[in-house]
Amino acid sequence: MSGFELEPVEKASREELARLQLERLQWSLAHAYEKVPHYRRKFDDAGVKPSDCARLEDLRRFPFTTKADLRENYPFGMFAVPMDRIVRIHASSGTTGKPTVVGYTARDIDTWAHLMARSMRAAGARRGDKVHVAYGYGLFTGGLGAHYGAERLGLAVIPLGGGMTERQVQLMVDFKPDIIMVTPSYMLAIADEMERQRIDARSSSLRLGIFGAEPWTNEMRHSIEQRLDIDALDLYGLSEVMGPGVAQECIETKDGLTIWEDHFYPEIIDPQSGEPLADGEQGELVFTSLSKEALPVIRYRTRDLTRLLPPSARSMRRMEKITGRSDDMLIVRGVNVFPSQIEELILKQAGLSPHYVLELSKQGPLDHLAVIVEGDTAAAAQLQHHIKSYVGVSAEVRVGTVERSIGKAKRVIDKRPK
Ligand code: DLL
Repeated sequence: MSGFELEPVEKASREELARLQLERLQWSLAHAYEKVPHYRRKFDDAGVKPSDCARLEDLRRFPFTTKADLRENYPFGMFAVPMDRIVRIHASSGTTGKPTVVGYTARDIDTWAHLMARSMRAAGARRGDKVHVAYGYGLFTGGLGAHYGAERLGLAVIPLGGGMTERQVQLMVDFKPDIIMVTPSYMLAIADEMERQRIDARSSSLRLGIFGAEPWTNEMRHSIEQRLDIDALDLYGLSEVMGPGVAQECIETKDGLTIWEDHFYPEIIDPQSGEPLADGEQGELVFTSLSKEALPVIRYRTRDLTRLLPPSARSMRRMEKITGRSDDMLIVRGVNVFPSQIEELILKQAGLSPHYVLELSKQGPLDHLAVIVEGDTAAAAQLQHHIKSYVGVSAEVRVGTVERSIGKAKRVIDKRPK
């Protein structure tokens, strides 16, 4: 079922939802324990059995899963079904080492299409819409995830993928899509290309943008909405947990992302101690899959930092826009800095384009942070001043050219010796 009506579960009471979650959680823990030797070993080492999970709160007794667990079992060791039941394999490249490999059964693909359709409906997709997909196709889950969701909803998909920006713009003019699905950074590159071709971005056919796959601030949202005269909605997901469609912002509230809690159980933990935190507290997002067959994940540590918020437009809880990944936190002369803090200031500063790169190096024994931006030098000087006063670090702001990304933007270049 994936029409344009809300599904019953999107309107369920907390009690109904909790009952469904517990039933599915017990299945998922047993499935992982019985079918994946790695989970069996880890549960045994921790002295827990699936039958110890009598309430949702009991989940905290189970061990975490990390990217390292998937790497150790590269490529298919974490799969819980034989290969003759796998119908799709994706992988995320990561910056170091082996890619993380994920697999799907036919039912997993069906669930994914369903949840992406649900996400797109929540974002404001309507019957008859045309969807321009500029997320990359291939091993990355963005392109195919969006594609299957749009088809499931019965929309007309235009599967461009990433790259060939000139042609993206040409086909946008000719095909007149209503929705674009793309990383926010590549959206900016497409908007630049429109300008170069002297096309007024605000008068394009687009009504909605569904953006994700990388952190982006609310300042970036406003800037994109203004520049293209569209609604910009946030879509979250990760390949280990499924792909895009784990959580989606709803157009009627635009107040953070509703987590599709009937399929993914969220927790927030203290990233240092691993202790679960109460809703509302900021920490690391952890997910347990409730229905996945091929690759169950139990307490998967995403490294993404956010907090859980009460339900608003749906029966499920929300998460605040991701502040950043714990791996992206820069420590500059002892001060913790997230790229998103710098992004906010850049977007607020008149005279600068929204493109930027942070470059870390050593000057003698000290860390040196350079912020490379495009725009005029007076604006750059202003920014330097604002970074000092709002973030509390001395940064060198340099005017230069910032390379455009066609997928996930690489915001940080770390040139410090290892
Ligand atoms: O990026 C899946 C995806 C595709 C999501 C298209 C949304 C749209 P991975 O390549 O495995 O999967 O990367 C997952 O990207 O842990 C976050 O750090 C980051 N990320 C994804 N969506 C968002 C978002 C896809 N909306 C990693 N805001 C995640 C902030 C995001 N970060």
